[in-house]
Amino acid sequence: MSDLSGARIVVTGGAGFIGSHLVDALLAAGAESVVVVDTFFLGREENLEAARAQHGDALTVYREDAGDLGAMTAICRAERPDLAFNLATKALLYSFFNPVGAFTVNVAIATALAELLRTGLLPRLVHVSSSEVYGTAQQISMSEAHPLLAETSYAAGKAAADLLLMSYVNMYDLDVVTVRPFNNYGPRQNDDAFAAIVPLTIKRLLDGSPPVIEGDGLQTRDFIYVQDAVAAILRLATLDAALGQTLNVGSGRETAIREIVDTLCEIAGYTGEIVQAPARTADVRRHRADVSRVETLLGGVAPTDLRDGLEWTYSWHAAAVGS
Ligand SMILES: NC(=O)c1ccc[n+]([C@@H]2O[C@H](COP(=O)([O-])OP(=O)(O)OC[C@H]3O[C@@H](n4cnc5c(N)ncnc54)[C@H](O)[C@@H]3O)[C@@H](O)[C@H]2O)c1
Repeated sequence: MSDLSGARIVVTGGAGFIGSHLVDALLAAGAESVVVVDTFFLGREENLEAARAQHGDALTVYREDAGDLGAMTAICRAERPDLAFNLATKALLYSFFNPVGAFTVNVAIATALAELLRTGLLPRLVHVSSSEVYGTAQQISMSEAHPLLAETSYAAGKAAADLLLMSYVNMYDLDVVTVRPFNNYGPRQNDDAFAAIVPLTIKRLLDGSPPVIEGDGLQTRDFIYVQDAVAAILRLATLDAALGQTLNVGSGRETAIREIVDTLCEIAGYTGEIVQAPARTADVRRHRADVSRVETLLGGVAPTDLRDGLEWTYSWHAAAVGS
């Protein structure tokens, strides 16, 4: 598969944050059809508005559970995809509310997709895992060989999904690329239940309530602007050299949560109190991606400047509140 123009593509979780940006990018790249499979647990219709407005004929949405093999079989028979991207999941923080559900959803979706690959209904899969499978960094930076030390049941489900898919690749010689994004941020990220630090802080600043930092704020993450991550994932999808590989998708930068909150306060012109809350349990302490494998494959990755990305994200949320 050399490019995506004319391709028929399934995107599980396509109504979510990263998934909807991927849908936009696939349609812009000339995909013949993009089929979103989403339960709308956190997905939103409005995330697909731009895609619908510009490429309505090429976009189909199924409100289905991507872990339901029967439903996925029917969808693949009807839509005859060349490729699927798997982004469906329940948010990391859902683990604390329903640990079993957070684990099993990731495994069920991977199992269904593995069976579709094995039976030939799906020729190729880009499986979107997570840097969370690594747990707290044992060494910085973290390569794909970093041990899997999941700290939440969400991460354990992701790690199990990765291993299941890899076992199918080994047994049946299937076309699978596994990507492990680090912390994405940008427009459309959920700012409601189970929200991550960037949208949560922006929402509080826009609501006029003080931002909250859990713990000392010195815990770090590798933040990558969503469109940088999507661009890398898209290029890896058609690269035969990426097949069978597991690849980190990050910025290669390490940023403390406190710096993120401070920068967002500056952008918002907020000089008030920052609430210090108790540290969250199972909150990984340090993360920074070793991105050399992807850089070798793609010939260099230039991440969006963090301040620029946070400004754009803040403006997007501010406009969404105003509209
Ligand atoms: N956001 C990040 O920082 C980040 C970092 C690393 C990896 N990831 C991975 O990227 C993918 C997308 O994450 P996101 O941040 O866009 O999350 P998101 O919650 O915005 O998107 C996930 C989508 O999956 C849908 N969904 C949930 N259960 C489903 C099911 N059983 N069947 C079909 N759809 C279902 C949700 O409704 C939602 O639209 C996930 O696999 C996540 O693990 C995200």
